[in-house]
Amino acid sequence: MIRFYHVFKSYNRDAYSLSDVSLSVRPGSFVFLTGASGAGKTTLLKLIIREEVPNKGQILVNGQNVASLPVTKIPRLRRSIGVVFQDFKLIRTKTVFENVTFVLKTLGFDLKERRRKAFSVLKQVGLQHKTHCYPLQLSGGEQQRVAIARAIVNDPVLLLADEPTGNLDPDMANEIMNLFSKINMHGTTVLVATHDRDMIQRMSHRVITLHQGRLVHDTLPQGRLDSH
Ligand SMILES: Nc1ncnc2c1ncn2[C@@H]1O[C@H](COP(=O)(O)OP(=O)(O)OP(=O)(O)O)[C@@H](O)[C@H]1O
Ligand SMILES: [Mg+2]
Repeated sequence: MIRFYHVFKSYNRDAYSLSDVSLSVRPGSFVFLTGASGAGKTTLLKLIIREEVPNKGQILVNGQNVASLPVTKIPRLRRSIGVVFQDFKLIRTKTVFENVTFVLKTLGFDLKERRRKAFSVLKQVGLQHKTHCYPLQLSGGEQQRVAIARAIVNDPVLLLADEPTGNLDPDMANEIMNLFSKINMHGTTVLVATHDRDMIQRMSHRVITLHQGRLVHDTLPQGRLDSH
């Protein structure tokens, strides 16, 4: 599903944001990515969706070498991946419904089907009553949940979430993580970048730790050998 081979990424010549990172994530697994602020978590996720390209090394996503993927093939790669960005990236001029179903529209789903899918995911994140609101009329946590709904609306094979519970109260954070687990149980590979140590401990999953751009720990929960 995801493979990094000796990946290096620097935004400027002074320092590497990722340095010699090699890892492999199996289809269907649930993996946490952690490390201090600036460790390189967001950079790693951006490389997977080809928002950034590495300076050195190879990255395979679903068998495709994303670093050398022709530009015309990038939209297709991204359509198979649901992404919850750290800054949400909601479109301010579009309603919750329009934000959530934007991709479905470009894929040719009719209004009835878009409504059905949007209602289903908005219900899952507890926002079915906010369908016609604009992002700026929502709280930070609600915006975050809209971003989550948008990421899962098209049943992605891979879900990447960058601090998806950062703005949520503990109960809502738990609910969202349970939702991710449910999605994972239906076969979607899930990669969650987070600082939240309590949550990582509560949910027994593989944990990859970055420190100053290097992969320093890769641990499986005790008693589980199947998530690699
Ligand atoms: N667009 C950019 N231009 C220059 N440097 C960048 C850029 N994006 C990230 N960096 C640098 O790369 C390093 C890793 O950043 P990254 O955003 O990947 O960290 P992070 O682990 O996601 O941190 P946080 O937990 O704060 O979100 C940081 O030192 C950051 O300053
Ligand atoms: Mg980040």
